[in-house]
Amino acid sequence: MQHAEPLFLGRTFDDFLFRPQHSPVASRRGVGLAMPLVAGLDLALPVVGANMDTVVGQEMAKTLALEGGLGFLHRNSSIQEQAERVRYVKSRHSYVIDRPVVLERSATMAQARQTIRLHNASGILIEEVKGTGLLAGILSHRDMPLGGRGDERLVSEFMTPRGRLVTRPPSVVIEEAEQVMFDHRVEKLPLVDEQNRIRGLITMRDLKLYKQKPHSTKDGRGRLRVGAAVGATGDYLERAEALRAQEVDCLLLDIAHADADVVEGAIRELRHAFKDLPLVVGNVATASGARWLAELGADAVKVGVGPGRGCRTRLETGAGVPQLQAVREAWLGTEGKVPIVADGGIQNDKDVFLAIACGASTVMLGSMLSGTDEAPGLVVEDPATRQKVKLYRGMTSPEAVSEGMEEGDQVAEALRTPAEGQSVRVPYVGSVVAILARIRGHLQSAVSYAGETDLAAAHRKVSRDPGRYLIPLSDAARRESFVR
Ligand code: XMP
Repeated sequence: MQHAEPLFLGRTFDDFLFRPQHSPVASRRGVGLAMPLVAGLDLALPVVGANMDTVVGQEMAKTLALEGGLGFLHRNSSIQEQAERVRYVKSRHSYVIDRPVVLERSATMAQARQTIRLHNASGILIEEVKGTGLLAGILSHRDMPLGGRGDERLVSEFMTPRGRLVTRPPSVVIEEAEQVMFDHRVEKLPLVDEQNRIRGLITMRDLKLYKQKPHSTKDGRGRLRVGAAVGATGDYLERAEALRAQEVDCLLLDIAHADADVVEGAIRELRHAFKDLPLVVGNVATASGARWLAELGADAVKVGVGPGRGCRTRLETGAGVPQLQAVREAWLGTEGKVPIVADGGIQNDKDVFLAIACGASTVMLGSMLSGTDEAPGLVVEDPATRQKVKLYRGMTSPEAVSEGMEEGDQVAEALRTPAEGQSVRVPYVGSVVAILARIRGHLQSAVSYAGETDLAAAHRKVSRDPGRYLIPLSDAARRESFVR
């Protein structure tokens, strides 16, 4: 089997520049960046968050999806915690709230205040009798007496009753909901079935957010999409089941060396039990490894052995493939037929473009997202430099391994396996939204330099014949290009 072309042997991102092409683009803002994570699931921004406990928790997953990417929730937590994070993302931003907060009409106003505060809601639906789900009215902020007065009185005295509410059936489409809410000047539209049972709620706030972010990564019902990682051994089937129960959108079978016998059974079992769920599998770094995973049924192959900022694999074992070579190998091994996720080693926005131009469909980012507000973990001030920093750690670093232990696990035993990951401090950089906007803008410029109007076209053109477009650099050219 062909490895990579000679041009790529031993090479990675900083070894190349892209030869500028004549551009048809008038304004880079119109340049489309959509690429498939797997067939049938396009990302408007082809960036996925790494399944690491200092990168993707629920806030990062939510924000990535809002901005057109996708987050993979890490598995360094209990099954319940990971599933709960999926539930959080799936219920954050959609124009239909499937399971709105409900309180019975005989509840007190004190209970109503507490419920509203707890769920950060601007109002709640009221049901006739607890547990029946029969719509009795709406209690919104406006209906509540100021200063905590009337706390002992009943909700039914203050709510807008059913007879004065505008409702629609659950099948309502977004345009109709918007029109109805505008015509009746209401902020909330309960969805009820023929028996008057509550089936959902549309709020003007969610509708506006939904329309402001037309490129968010959403499922067919307008909810944000989210992925989650499982392992290749242990609890992976039980974990996948719990994730599916919360309607996860994509599973990631995550193992450091996926070109291994143990992966075969895991893929078969996951494929069998979760036919309906896309399955990304990684990591591999060779043509034969990528082909093997594709033949076993992976919907996308994740590529990268040892390029990551928190990785020590190459240092400790000597194993690995320079990342751009690995991407080429995977593309050749799968003949460009299965989407590739280029994972690790991306330090600059140009690397995102090079990875995708050379064969990847999406990139997975760890350290580049880790210094942001949305990444799990606290901002601390480095006492020596007074710089604000966050912690970023490899998932096989001793810190991550010991924290992922369940009670009763043999911590000492687990830590006896020498680490292939490490912790580093990364500068605190504020919101990830700004980082993603910067990547988006630079990718659009790069596509223009590549002489195309969208990223998918640049990917098709360059990956078929990269030698025409890439210029290998001498040390002097590298200094001229990247040292400032
Ligand atoms: P970046 O460069 O974006 O890389 O920070 C993120 C990727 O690094 C991988 N990773 C590890 N690799 N030991 C490793 O050899 C580790 O402990 C480790 N933790 C994460 C992973 O593929 C991630 O997406």
